[in-house]
Parts: sequence; C-alpha cells; structure tokens
Amino acid sequence: METLILKTTEADIAAAGEILKSGGLVALPTETVYGLAANAFDTQAVRRIYEVKGRPSDNPLIVHIADLEALPSLVSELPKSAEKLAAAFWPGPLTMILNKADIIPDAASGGLDSVAIRFPENKTAREIIRAAGLPLAAPSANLSGKPSPTTFEHVFEDMNGKVEAIVEGESCNVGVESTIISLIGKKPRLLRPGGITVDELESVIGEIEIDSAVLERMDERGKVRSPGMKYKHYCPKADITIIDSSPQEFVEYANERGVFALCFDEDEAELKIPHISYGPRYDSREQARRLFSALHRLDEEQAGQVFARIPKRTGVGLAVYNRLVRAAGFKVQNPAGRLIIGLTGSTGAGKTTVSAEMENQGCISIDCDWISRSPGVYDGECIKELQAVFGDDIVTRGMLDRALLAKRAFVNKENSEKLNSITHPRILKKVREEIEHAEKAGYGLIIVDAPTLFEAGFDKMCARIIAVTAPEDVRMKRIIFRDRLTEEEAATRMNAQPKNEFYESRADYKIDGTLGISEYERILAPIVEELNKSLDGEKL
Ligand code: TXA
Ligand code: MG
Repeated sequence: METLILKTTEADIAAAGEILKSGGLVALPTETVYGLAANAFDTQAVRRIYEVKGRPSDNPLIVHIADLEALPSLVSELPKSAEKLAAAFWPGPLTMILNKADIIPDAASGGLDSVAIRFPENKTAREIIRAAGLPLAAPSANLSGKPSPTTFEHVFEDMNGKVEAIVEGESCNVGVESTIISLIGKKPRLLRPGGITVDELESVIGEIEIDSAVLERMDERGKVRSPGMKYKHYCPKADITIIDSSPQEFVEYANERGVFALCFDEDEAELKIPHISYGPRYDSREQARRLFSALHRLDEEQAGQVFARIPKRTGVGLAVYNRLVRAAGFKVQNPAGRLIIGLTGSTGAGKTTVSAEMENQGCISIDCDWISRSPGVYDGECIKELQAVFGDDIVTRGMLDRALLAKRAFVNKENSEKLNSITHPRILKKVREEIEHAEKAGYGLIIVDAPTLFEAGFDKMCARIIAVTAPEDVRMKRIIFRDRLTEEEAATRMNAQPKNEFYESRADYKIDGTLGISEYERILAPIVEELNKSLDGEKL
C-alpha cells in the first residue's frame, strides 16, 4: 500500500479527515505519542488497527474526542469525578475509563463493558478529529511490543506502506502515553502513569489507588483491570537491566563491565563506554520526553547488554519508571547490596527527627553536620585555609571561634560557597569512611544526613534522596531557639539557602517537617519498607 505523507496544512488535515470518514487509517501526532487512528464506530476499520500493529485483540483502544460534548454519548454513566477531571485536565494527557455506551463497538473496547476516553491537547490531533467529525480509536502508532513513537521518523519506520496516511507533525512534547485512570470501580484507580501525576489527580478527586500493574510484572493469564499492562512493552532489541545504585556506583560499575549505558546527562562525562542519555537526573518531564527516542537509539546503535540508570518514581518519574522497567523486562539489580540515602532540607526543617526515626526502623544515619564540625575535618591545614579567607581572628587562643566563622560564612552565598570549597572535600572523605564502616557493620540502608547534600555534590553518592521541608516561619523559630540567633541572623542564614522547592523537586520522598514526633513512625514505615524491598532486589 502507498502511504500518503500529510503535513499540518488545512488541506492536508481535511484530507486526513476524509480518509478516516471512509474507513482508512491515519497515523497522527498527539502531545503524548503518535497515534494510529480510525473511526471508533467502524468495526472493520478498528479491526485493521489490530492487524497493522499485530496487537492482541483483547487489548482495548482509547477513543479520542475533540469536544467535551462528545463525551456523554460514548458512556453509559458519567460520574462526578469524571466531570471534575475533565474540567481540570482536558484537553491533555489524561485517559478516563468509564462504562461504555452501546454505540462503542466491541472491537474498540476489547469486549469489555468499559471504554477509554481521551481529549488530546495537540492542535493537529484535535483538528483531525474535528475534520473527521467522529471519535477516533487510536493506540500508539508503533508495532505491538515496540517503544511508542514520539517522532515522525519512528512512525514512518513502523507504519509506512501499512496505512493510508501519516501526518507529519512536531515531536511529542510529553513523550510517554497518557495517564489512565479507571473510574468504574468503587475507588478511582491509576492503571497507567503518565504526564498527569498522581498528586495532580488527587488534588482534584482525592485519594486514588495505584494498580499493582503500574510497578510490578503482571500475570499473562486471567482477566485484568489493565489489559495493556500484561503484554511485553516498549521493548528494544537490547537487553536492559536497571541498576539501582547511586550515580557514582553506576558509572564505576558500567565502566568496569564495559556494557552500553542508558544514563542521565550528568553521567556522560564520566562514562568511558558507549552511552545514550535520557535526560537530566532531576528532570522527570525531560526524561519522559526523551525516553522512547533513547530506546530507539539503543537499537540503532545495536546495543547488546545495557545498564540503565534508575529514574525516580514520584511525579512524572513514575511514568518514566513504569516504561523503563517494562523495557528492561522487570530486571532491576542492586549491585552493591545496599542503598545510600541522602537526607536533606534547609536548616530547621526537621531532618534530625526524621533521621532518628529512620534509625529506629533499622537504618543507620551519618550526620554530616556533626562530621563537619569534627576535629577530623578542622585539622591545622584546614584552619589555615579558613583564616586566609575569613580572617585570622576566627581563631582566638588557639581555638576556632565557630560562631564568628558561621557569621562570616553564612552572610551571603559567595562566602558560604568559599567555606564549602575548603571543608567539603574533607567532610566527603570522612563520610566515605563512615559509609564503609556502616557497611562493614552490616547495614543495608545508610542515610547521609546533609543540609548541603546537593551543593556539596554528595547527591552523587546517593541512590535515593529524602527531602524534609517546613514553612519558613517554622524553620525561623526553630533555629532562633536552637542556635540562639537573633531574628536577623536567622533570616540571613535562611536566605543563603535554597527554597523548599529546590529540595522537593530533586527528592524521591518528600517529608513534612512539621508533624508531631509520633507521626513520623507511621509516615516513614512504608518508605523504609520500600527501601528494604529494593535492597532485596537481585544482586549481580
Ligand atoms: O497517550 C495515549 O494514550 C496514546 C495516544 C495515541 O493517545 N494512546 C495509547 O494507546 O497509548 P495504547 O493503545 O497504546 O494504550 C491504551 C491503553 C492500553 O494499555 C489498554 O489496555 C488501555 O489503554 N485500555 C483501553 N481501554 C481500556 C479499558 N476499557 N479498561 C482498561 N484499560 C483500557
Ligand atoms: Mg501502545
């Protein structure tokens, strides 16, 4: 079959609409991934989608609309939660599972009583749906089992010669398929994570359940809530293993093994082996945007064994991890057999309480603040360097005047950076020794408690990061009391530190530092449990 390549001009969009009306298939861009569309009411056309993709017939399709008014006729009931979610996130990367109206053919719903509906944001997608004047059933435009296409080239590779037309649009901005939430059970349930996060959904409709298929391998038999999750997915030819470790360990380990690395931007400079990055460590959205292209490139580069960096599993990171762990056939390994966990947050946020409770629950904590004041760090050499920068008078009668040093160092960013550059290498060495010591003592979960975790680059030795945050006024009060400061001194110290957002956006876990002491046990237990589970992951 000759496949027509269309652009996004008015005439081409009209042509795409005509093809769809007459039962043809059109691959088109959306903000998530490219879709392969057909008239959702046309059983023959919908069947052809399955044929072309090689998709199992019990894996239902998503029906795409371009007007809210189209929704009621496609479903048999419309819960309030669906209306709320539509108002908040449509058009956008969210799909809702609702009880279907009879008008939806079995071919589109995979024989289920429910139907998946999505109102995409991408302008071209919406224009084509309107031009067709029909709801469009559209799965991702890849051959079944392969990574979803996020560029025209990828669609062309899989679909040229098999469909009536491919519309060439821009690359997909979200990069992973839509979030799928089921609204047909007692409780809303997340079936597939995507660009709309669990937090965002919960802020509109309250608590949602996360289907076990989001993170775990599913049984291939049996009827499941999320049929799509049971099939092999996103699979490049390469043999991927996710390495659950710190960036530093990852780099050392991958270099040593001489494999191919699927890494983060920050790792690239230190990798001596072929590698492809799928984004910056702390930018899940960018990782989502780039992941599928990176998987494609692994095949182009004919990568064999691949070690992949583990993404964080919160926010959009959950979607990234969900796709990557499938691409890896659920192979996640922890080569070191332990996890180093960074614990950070600004001064007065409540790290110490969190660290103490985590110790109660079997972790060991290394207090970098304490180390940073220890004589092991402030040796003669160090003090000389400090005097050169902050003045000779920071030593009186042979003793370091810490209060005076703190005053001078924390007065602005530049000065605190100067202090850091002198003390941090020494602290790092001590921390390393402490980690080794903890390992020898048999601890698996080792916490590095450091207010300046990121500034000092200690995050490079952490496999996970916990951020403790509290509002400014709470922290202010605490440090005035604890460190006997004036309000002005406290404010100066706080201003030299990053805002809560800085810590939270980098963290795997966010902890509210204003809870009552007894609440931390409850909040931290599931986190420690999850960390312990990661420890039990296969070792190489
Ligand atoms: O972002 C997206 O959603 C893209 C673009 C093209 O819109 N589409 C997409 O479709 O990812 P597809 O077919 O690759 O994935 C649809 C998923 C499958 O996992 C399928 O099992 C699930 O939606 N699904 C569809 N109808 C369902 C239903 N009634 N109940 C549960 N899951 C359903
Ligand atoms: Mg798909």
